[in-house]
Amino acid sequence: MKKDRFFEKMDLQALALAYDDVRLKTGLSIVTPQNVILATNFSRNVPMKITVVSAAMDTVTEAKMAIAMALEGGIGVIHKKLDPKAQAKEVKRVKFYLNGRIDKPICVRDNETIQSVIDMRDEKNYQFSTFPVLDENGKVVGILGRIDIEMCLDKSRTVQEAMTRKVLSANPATGLDEAFQKMISAKKKTLILIGEGGKLEGMYTFPDVYRIKMGQSQLLNLDNDGHLRVAAAIGTGEAALLRAEMLIHAGADAIVIDTAHGDSDGDLKSVFETLRQLKKNFSGTDVVAGNISEAESAKRLADLGADGIKVGQGPGSICITRVIAGIGCPQVTAVYNCAKAVEGTGIPVCADGGIKYSGDITIALGAGASYVMLGRLLAGTDEAPGDFIIVKGIKYKVYRGMGSLSSMRESLEARDRYRQQGVGIDKLVPEGVDAGVPYDGPVKKMLEQYLGGLRAGMGYVGAGNIQELWEKADFYRISPAGLAESHPHDIIITADAPNYHK
Ligand code: XMP
Repeated sequence: MKKDRFFEKMDLQALALAYDDVRLKTGLSIVTPQNVILATNFSRNVPMKITVVSAAMDTVTEAKMAIAMALEGGIGVIHKKLDPKAQAKEVKRVKFYLNGRIDKPICVRDNETIQSVIDMRDEKNYQFSTFPVLDENGKVVGILGRIDIEMCLDKSRTVQEAMTRKVLSANPATGLDEAFQKMISAKKKTLILIGEGGKLEGMYTFPDVYRIKMGQSQLLNLDNDGHLRVAAAIGTGEAALLRAEMLIHAGADAIVIDTAHGDSDGDLKSVFETLRQLKKNFSGTDVVAGNISEAESAKRLADLGADGIKVGQGPGSICITRVIAGIGCPQVTAVYNCAKAVEGTGIPVCADGGIKYSGDITIALGAGASYVMLGRLLAGTDEAPGDFIIVKGIKYKVYRGMGSLSSMRESLEARDRYRQQGVGIDKLVPEGVDAGVPYDGPVKKMLEQYLGGLRAGMGYVGAGNIQELWEKADFYRISPAGLAESHPHDIIITADAPNYHK
């Protein structure tokens, strides 16, 4: 990789660099920003269409944010300060936002009357009228559709008499794309998924699938069944494993072990042990582990089977870990070293925290990250859960560190992140601050700016996709004068820009 020499030289001086210390070199380009492909991986088996995820923080990501992120091709990581049931509910809200595959269709029995079906539909206020019909053994024997109900003039007749017997069916592994094709070929509006012994395993309906396939942005980040993808955070230890089980059951595509120090071993509460247990018990679900900032730590997590690695110890806008604990590697070097350590393994690296401008995203990816995690840059949007505050007539949203005093006082999970479970409330040592960020409007609008900046950067470097950016990226270390020159200078700014604030 081009950048290796640069980082080797820095390493010889024991110099670690932050975003403001570097800029990418421009190069010969046949790439237009609009044609840049931003597809990447969240974890080994979970793809994304853009290189941005939202942070697992209580003022950033619950279902509303995660839905907005997945609609734009990314992923939201639902925070773990919610109790496990409530967190699982948020995951479900994302999974069921789009009705791709319906896992548990509402069914009717073959021997009930049409009138009873109508009554049930009205009582529950269902907006649909297509029901798989089951016999006494739970076997699918037909389908009852709107036409069947309307054309049955004598509503005291049984479902069996009115239903359509010939159903279009497929095996339970059928994905959204295949289901779409099957329904079109057969000119049928419903595809029933039937498993062993004729058992109902799910259903697709054409209007839903059509809406997903044709009606919306091609960017949607969908799982195989046509549901939006979502990830969820856990802590460590026994309780975290139970939480993970509930989240996976609710449909989480990946679990994120979200701690301030991911390089920990030795007891049940350690990240390593939690990772081992997750890989042993839930081998079908990807696990992203973090946070770390050293190459050796990345290697250890990779050896334990992590499907993704989250890098960032103290770069975040609300973090005070570096100054209160005196530890941590500046983020660009941390990302480079960790990505280098797992190069060629297929394990994506997340650059978590410290992104101030879209140019920092290009730098993070250039250094080897597969994507960035944003807190501050998404916390001011409509979809973030934080409350509004007005300061001197200007609208802000609350944004706080998971390790801020207020957050740790409120939640054991927040204390857990900073390994202060056993510390008395009045003795907590905060590692984050309580803050506010200017109100920014919808996520979609902000992502357009952030990804627009990234696309421009990739255009300057001459990289058409993320792999090419990794290969072509090379850096200058810049001086304070270089940084001053990079920002607007010797003027007064007379209008707000959507992508720039000082
Ligand atoms: P940004 O810069 O995007 O950073 O606001 C978000 C990331 O910061 C981490 N985080 C914390 N780190 N103390 C810390 O040292 C905290 O209280 C804290 N809260 C969040 C987290 O990794 C997040 O994604």
